[in-house]
This record gives sequence, C-alpha cells and structure tokens, in this order.
Amino acid sequence: MREIQAPKGVSEYFPPRSQYFEFVRETLITAAKVSGYQLIELPVFEDTELFKRGVGESTDVVSKEMYTFEDRGGRSITLRPEGTAGVMRSVIENNLDKLTLPIKVWYSGAFFRAERPQAGRYRQFYQVGIEAIGLDDPEIDFEVIAVADRAFKALGLNSYRLDITSLGDSASRASHRKDLLIFLDSLNLDEATKARAAINPLRLFDDKREDIQKAMAKAPLLLDYLSPESATNFARVQELLTNAGIAFTINPRMVRGLDYYTGTTFEFVSDKLGAQSGIGGGGRYDGLMAELGGNDLSGIGFGLGVDRILLACEAEGLFDSTEVKSELELFVIALSAEQKIYVSNLVNDLRNQGINCDMAYGDRALKGSMKSADKSGARFSVVIGSDEIDSGNVALKDMKTGSIKEVRISALSVEVNAN
Ligand code: HAM
Repeated sequence: MREIQAPKGVSEYFPPRSQYFEFVRETLITAAKVSGYQLIELPVFEDTELFKRGVGESTDVVSKEMYTFEDRGGRSITLRPEGTAGVMRSVIENNLDKLTLPIKVWYSGAFFRAERPQAGRYRQFYQVGIEAIGLDDPEIDFEVIAVADRAFKALGLNSYRLDITSLGDSASRASHRKDLLIFLDSLNLDEATKARAAINPLRLFDDKREDIQKAMAKAPLLLDYLSPESATNFARVQELLTNAGIAFTINPRMVRGLDYYTGTTFEFVSDKLGAQSGIGGGGRYDGLMAELGGNDLSGIGFGLGVDRILLACEAEGLFDSTEVKSELELFVIALSAEQKIYVSNLVNDLRNQGINCDMAYGDRALKGSMKSADKSGARFSVVIGSDEIDSGNVALKDMKTGSIKEVRISALSVEVNAN
C-alpha cells in the first residue's frame, strides 16, 4: 500500500521540537497582549473576492499563489494567504469600527501560499500578526514596530535588522506614479510586465530579473516625492525609533508583497537565514477598509513568520540545551502490576488537584519505567510498591539533584507545590 505523506511544502512541528515552536509563538503573542492587543480569531477560508480586492491582483500572492477552490455550493473560496484582509472584513461586518478607536487585535494561525517550497518557505506556514485600526498617527506606527522588536528581543534574537520606508499618502503616490510611469515607458518592457506595472508600478522595484533590476536603479524613488505631511510623519516615526534604541535602515526600494500598503512600511530581516530571510513585515494600509466597502479608517499592522523566527532562533543557538523542557512536575511509577490501579487513581487525584503529573504505563520493569521518568522531564518521581501503600509514605526523588525526601502520599501535592 502507498504510504501517505504530508502535502508538499507544509511545515509541521512535533515533539521535541514543537516545544520551541510553541515557545516562539507564545512569546510573540505575549508581546502583542502586553501592548493592549486583543485576540481576533477568524476563518481560515474566505470569499476569494476578499483577497483579490484587498491584497491586489498585481501581487504574486493573488495572481499565482492562492489556494482557491469551489465549495459544494459553487462559491469561490480561498485559503487565507494573509491575515489583514480578513481582519478588515470582520471589522466591517461586525461593526467593530463603531466601538472605541483604535481597534487593536492580534491573531495567530496557519496561512497558505502555493509558493515553490524551500528552506523557510512553506505552503502552509504560521504567523502571529497584529492590526491597529482607526488611528493615523506616527506614534501607533512606532508602537507596532516596537511590539515586533520587543518580541524578538524577548526571544533573545540578536542577528536581525529592520528596514523601513514610507509609501506616503495618496498625493505623494500620485505624483511619484506619474514620473515612474514615464520612466517605465522609456524601458523596453514585455507585455506581461507592462500589465503588472499598470496595476502597481512599484512592483518593478521587486522584479528579480537582472536587466530590470539594472534599469530600475535609475527609477525615481517614492521617498523623494513625499508630501510635507507624509515626510513629517515619517520623520517622527524615525525619531521615536531612535529614542527607543531600535536600530533601522531606510530602504527606499523596499516593496512589500501585498498591494494595500501606504505610509510607513517595514520589514525585519534575519542575517542567519539565507534566501528566506524575512522574519516579519508590515505597514500602514490607509485605503484598505474603504476599498472593502467599510468606513475610511486607516490602519497599520504586521505579520511575523513563526516558522522562520524559530529557524532564526535555532541558527543563533538559542535552543541548544539538551534539557527536556517539560510542564510535568511529578512522574509516578508502580513497582509491580498490583499497584497499577492505586497509582492510576493517585495520578488522577493529583491531576484534579492541579499537579501536572504522568505515570509509567504498561508492564515494564522498574528500570524501563525509570527511563520513562527521565525522558518525561518531570521534576520529581516516586515509586509506589505495597510497602508504600501500607505505610502511606513514599520517597520523593528530585530528578535533577537525585536527592530523596520521605513524604506522606497524602501530602504529595503540597510537597510538589512547595518545591
Ligand atoms: P507578509 O510580508 O506577506 O505580510 O508576511 C509576513 C511574514 O510571514 C513574512 O515576513 C514571513 O516571515 C512569513 N511568511 C510569508 N510567506 C511565507 C511562507 N511561504 N513560508 C514561511 N513564512 C512565510 C503579510 O502577510 C501581511 N498581512 C502583514 C501585515 C499585517 N501587514 C499589515 N498588517
């Protein structure tokens, strides 16, 4: 029979490595929560139109990478390639914009892009993201960037950098677009490239072909076209980052992979990851909500790539310790088959009292059970035979130091909690 394998290019995490994935994800989420962001939990699939309109048809994400299918009712459905469009849809649909602004939400989950798989690039990957909606203010731009930076520092990451730029307001982009289109007209572009440029000419800065990159070296830069207001806002963001000790590089050629961006945009890049080095990115998306049929509220957010951040942590040697990280406090072993029921009941009682504990299952000899206790990573272990049951006393072993303390079985939870 054919062995069934996971679909090509998906990431998956199982023990023992899954503990590090969980640690990374929870650290990122904590950074969002401590800055006042609240959970938003959204569907993994949406109406295809949402991404076409929200993310933009000139992007690779929409034109080449969406997992789109017809559902049983004949509707076109797409597995979410990113989180921002869905958040906007939900804010509009559930009238969240009628509440106090800004709306500050975080999300965490799987996203799907049919990209060519390689190290750090998957077809199902994980993001932790935040969105702050309803405030057009450089202070909130700074806050969003600082949340990501704080999360990376909390993980212990060192080798990463932050690129920022501004895509300005609509006036800035309109005057730049005029000159950029004139410039692009002077190049000998093929029809497909021209069609892309017509939707979003900034895409050409991101074109990987060598001749186009060379030609684009002389292209006018949006940063030189910022309106006075956009320039002031961008300067303010830089000032706030500098004051906070967050190092950054201004990269006027940075192009984000999604079309909704305006104003401040940014990317975090790890120096340890090779080609797929973007560990997170985001920016302002001031026209998006109106484009999707809602109020004209501004917004800014980011998506952090949990898979790549885990790889970066590993590359920086942050998880090198061979110690098993375990939530278990106590591991209980029955000396022989006769004590199994007693031990099962005891473990069940201890769990009811909130003690994280596990037991040796099966009919293994004591040596094998002790190995299980070691592997479990539990802080303490006890072996229970008929003597222990008769006397009500048991030897509580500290698994790290090997030291032993005689305690009452009835006091196990108190002892474990006290140590
Ligand atoms: P994005 O830059 O497309 O932005 O994705 C954010 C992060 O997700 C990337 O920096 C990367 O770490 C990770 N990522 C993206 N694609 C893959 C992949 N195929 N495999 C592994 N990791 C990947 C967004 O998605 C925007 N929604 C972020 C945002 C929120 N902007 C404003 N608000």
